[in-house]
Order: sequence, then C-alpha cells, then structure tokens
Amino acid sequence: MEERRLGPVVGLGTWNTFEGDVELAHRVAGAAREEGCGLFDTSPMYGSEEALGSAIAERRVEATVATKIWAGSIEEGRQQFEDQLRWFGRVEIEQVHNLVSWEEHLSWLEAERDRGTVDRLGVTHFQASAFPELARALRTGSFSTLQVPYNPLERECERELLPLAKELGVAVIAMRPLGAKSRLRSPPPPEALAPLRELGISTWPQALIKWALSDGRVDVVIPATRNPDHVRENARAGNPPWLGEEERRLIEQLART
Ligand SMILES: NC(=O)c1ccc[n+]([C@@H]2O[C@H](COP(=O)([O-])OP(=O)(O)OC[C@H]3O[C@@H](n4cnc5c(N)ncnc54)[C@H](OP(=O)(O)O)[C@@H]3O)[C@@H](O)[C@H]2O)c1
Repeated sequence: MEERRLGPVVGLGTWNTFEGDVELAHRVAGAAREEGCGLFDTSPMYGSEEALGSAIAERRVEATVATKIWAGSIEEGRQQFEDQLRWFGRVEIEQVHNLVSWEEHLSWLEAERDRGTVDRLGVTHFQASAFPELARALRTGSFSTLQVPYNPLERECERELLPLAKELGVAVIAMRPLGAKSRLRSPPPPEALAPLRELGISTWPQALIKWALSDGRVDVVIPATRNPDHVRENARAGNPPWLGEEERRLIEQLART
C-alpha cells in the first residue's frame, strides 16, 4: 500500500479564530510559519479563508492549505472552490466538510485533482455517529486524508478509522486536540506534568498535542488559537521524543480527573 504520510507535524486550526481579521491572521499564521507549522486547516464555514489567504500569500509554496467544501449542491461547492483558487491560488488538501453531499461532489473534485488544482482529497466529520459513513467514503479509494476528533476524551476513531486509514495509506489529521470547550480545557496542576518534562512537555496543551501525535497513525494535529504565543507553545509539542504507552496513559489519567 502506498504510504501518503503528511507528518508527524503540528498545524493550525482556524475555527473561531481570526475570521475576517486580516491583521490577526498575519500575526497568528506568521507565528505558525516561523515555528514550522505550515499546514493550515480552514473551511468556508469559518469565514477565515480570505484572511488566511492574505496571511500566507508571501512564500505561498511553503504552506499547505487544507480547506473544505461545505455545500449541499455542486453549484455552491464549485463557487466555494472558485473563491479558494482566488484566495490561495491552489489547494493542497480539499476536504468534504462533515461529509456534506460527498458522493455528489466526488466527480468534480476528482476532476480538479486530475487537473492539478488540488493535490489530495479528504473527508472530515466531528461526530462519532458519522464514522461508519467516513469509513465507507475511505473505502472508495478516492480520499487520501481523514480528519476526525482525537484527544484523551474522544477516542472513538481508534476502533475502526485509525486502523483503516493505516491499511489504506490515508493520512490522519486530528481535530479538537485540546478538547475545544470540554473539561480538558482545565489543566491539571503543573507538578502533575513533572514526569513529562524530559520529553519536552511543560504545559497541558503540549501534553495533549503530543499525546495525539505520538499515536503513529496520526499525521497532523491542528490546535486552533488566536494567540501567537499559544502557537509557539503548541509548536514545541511537535518534535520527538514521542511518548510511550506509559506516558500516554498518564495523560489519559490526568484528563479523566
Ligand atoms: N468538522 C470539521 O471538519 C471540524 C470540526 C471541528 C474542528 N475542526 C478543525 O479542528 C481545529 C481544532 O479544533 P477546535 O478549534 O474545535 O478545538 P481545539 O483546537 O481543541 O481548541 C481550541 C481552543 O484551545 C485554545 N488554545 C489553543 N492553544 C492553547 C494554549 N497553548 N493554551 C491555552 N489555550 C489554548 C484556543 O484558545 P486561544 O485562542 O485563547 O488560544 C481555543 O479556545 C478547528 O479550528 C478546525 O480547523 C474541524
């Protein structure tokens, strides 16, 4: 099976971040690029694409744009894609957002990939109830990336999707690595992280990011932030040494308490 890995690497999520604020997009995306986090996940749903396009226009070739089509009709999807070509020039990873009308979109997206305006096609969903449908989409062989939630409190993808992605050579992008608005956002006391310090972890977000990236089946972890200092902090979790089973279990225990 052809291996089509993208990582392991930390990227940047853009939901609920800079939206139309071009100046903020320049600061946040600029920090990400300085730190080597060159994969940017976005979507027409987030209202952030145009600002992101402006922020990465310089040295565009060094960035990987992972955006999405989020449209109930082919006409609307094509319009979203036209906008994306205007803002990004081309799209490295075009994902069908939450599987919306994925079977309808597939043939024109494959034609764009054949034309070279897109490198890879992918699928995303945020709900475990949609995972059987994600698996069905992957089995068509048309998609080479999968984006699903992955953090110590959301591990449903381990059952079928991560093994399937590995079998098919599909690259995995982990959304919601910090648990978005869940109780993962309350960090354990700093001393609880002491055993992880020699593995390059000094904060709770770093522990969660490294937890996800240390699963060898995960390629990219995309924490979202509006804060350039958080970008820098998160990026530091993107380097080896990776965590072993024991360290991952410690983080899982801390997440549950
Ligand atoms: N269906 C889909 O395709 C789908 C669904 C969900 C998510 N996604 C993608 O996945 C990305 C990530 O998921 P998410 O945005 O839901 O959640 P997340 O990345 O797990 O959490 C984002 C939250 O973490 C905070 N944060 C980030 N770094 C931090 C740090 N170092 N210290 C403290 N707080 C920190 C951010 O606030 P600050 O701004 O204050 O840092 C923000 O409130 C999204 O942005 C999106 O690109 C895709």
